[in-house]
Amino acid sequence: MTDSPLAPVAWFSRLSTSVLRSPPPVDVPSLFARLPQHLSDHGIVPLEGVYQFDVANEGRWTVSQDGGSLAIARGFTRPELGHLALTPEALFGIVGGEIDPVALLRAGGLVHHGAEETHFLTLLLQCFNARHLEPSLRDHALGRFYRTGTCEDASGDPVVVGGWSIPASVGQMLNRLVLREGLGRTLEIGLAYGISALHLCEAHRARGTGMHTAIDPWQTRTFRDIGRLNVERSGLMPWFEFLDAPDWLALPRLLERGVRIDLAFIDGLHLFDTTLLDFFYCDLILRPGGYLIFDDCTFPGVEGVIEFVLANRAYELIEEHHHRVSVLRKTADDDRAEQDVAFHRPF
Ligand SMILES: C[S@@+](CC[C@H](N)C(=O)[O-])C[C@H]1O[C@@H](n2cnc3c(N)ncnc32)[C@H](O)[C@@H]1O
Repeated sequence: MTDSPLAPVAWFSRLSTSVLRSPPPVDVPSLFARLPQHLSDHGIVPLEGVYQFDVANEGRWTVSQDGGSLAIARGFTRPELGHLALTPEALFGIVGGEIDPVALLRAGGLVHHGAEETHFLTLLLQCFNARHLEPSLRDHALGRFYRTGTCEDASGDPVVVGGWSIPASVGQMLNRLVLREGLGRTLEIGLAYGISALHLCEAHRARGTGMHTAIDPWQTRTFRDIGRLNVERSGLMPWFEFLDAPDWLALPRLLERGVRIDLAFIDGLHLFDTTLLDFFYCDLILRPGGYLIFDDCTFPGVEGVIEFVLANRAYELIEEHHHRVSVLRKTADDDRAEQDVAFHRPF
C-alpha cells in the first residue's frame, strides 16, 4: 500500500515544487545529492560500508557510510566490491516507496554484480520501507528493523537481515487486514526473523484478542531464535504460538487439534510441492471467508500453486500486492469429491 499513486513524485516534490508543474524529471544527480537528508528525515541508519549504483544513462554513483557520516560521490570508489544496476525510474520508484526492490530484483529490473547482494539491497530496502511504516511503529522493534536493516541476536549484537523478511508495505497490509476484518486466528509458515509475525501479533494486541501461530523448523539453527526473541522483546507472547517443526508435521497436528483459522500466510519453502502441501492443509483449517496469502507469488513454484488453486478450488483473487504477494479469499469448503472424483481444470 502506498501513500498515493504519486508517491515517488510526492517525496521529490517536497524538495522541488517545480517538479509538480511538469512531468516528473528523473533527476538522478539531484536525488543522490538529497539522499542523506532523505535518510535522516526517515531515521534511516545505513549500514557501514560502500553502496555502488550503476544507473542507466546517468552514470555510476557511490554512497558510503563511514563512522556516522554519509558521502555521495560520482563513479565507483571501490569497483572491486560490485554494484547494483538499475534504471533511473526504478531508483525513484524504490526511494519513493512505489517499487519493492526485492520484487524488482526477482523480475530482473535490478541486477546485482559481484560482492554480497544483501548489503547493496539493504539501503534500497530501507528507503522503500521508510515510506510504508506507520509513524507509531518508529520506536518498535519493527521500526528499528526497517530503519537499520538489522535485528539483535540473543547477546544484543546486530544481524543483517537482507531480503529474508516481508517489506513494511506487506506487513502493514497484513496488519490492516486483520484489524479491518476482525480476524482472530492467524497462521504463518516460515517465521525467520519474525517480521511478519510482529505485524500480525501487533494486530491481535490492538484488538485485545486473537492468536498467531508460526511454523518453522530452522528457527534455532538458521535464525538463532531471533524471530522468537523479537516477539518476546516486543511483549507479544500472549498472542503468539510457535511450532518448531516442518510444515508437513506441524500442519496435520493443527488439523488434529481442531484448530480453525481466519488467515494463512504461506512463506516457507517456496517449492511447488511444499507450497501445495501448505495450501492443502491450510485450506482444511481455513474457514470459508478466510484469507489465504502467498508471499513471493512470482516464484515459479508458488505461482503454479496459485494458478492451481484459482482454477480448481473455491477461492477468489482479492489483490496482488506490489507484484509480490497474492491475497486470496476462500469462498467455500471443498466439495469436488462429492461431485466428481476426477474433477480437474488445467491451470
Ligand atoms: C522467507 S522466510 C520467512 C520470512 C518471514 N515470514 C517474514 O517475513 O519475516 C522463509 C522461512 O521458511 C522456513 N522454512 C523452510 N522450510 C520450511 C518448512 N518445511 N516448514 C516450515 N517452514 C520452513 C525457513 O526456515 C524460513 O524461516
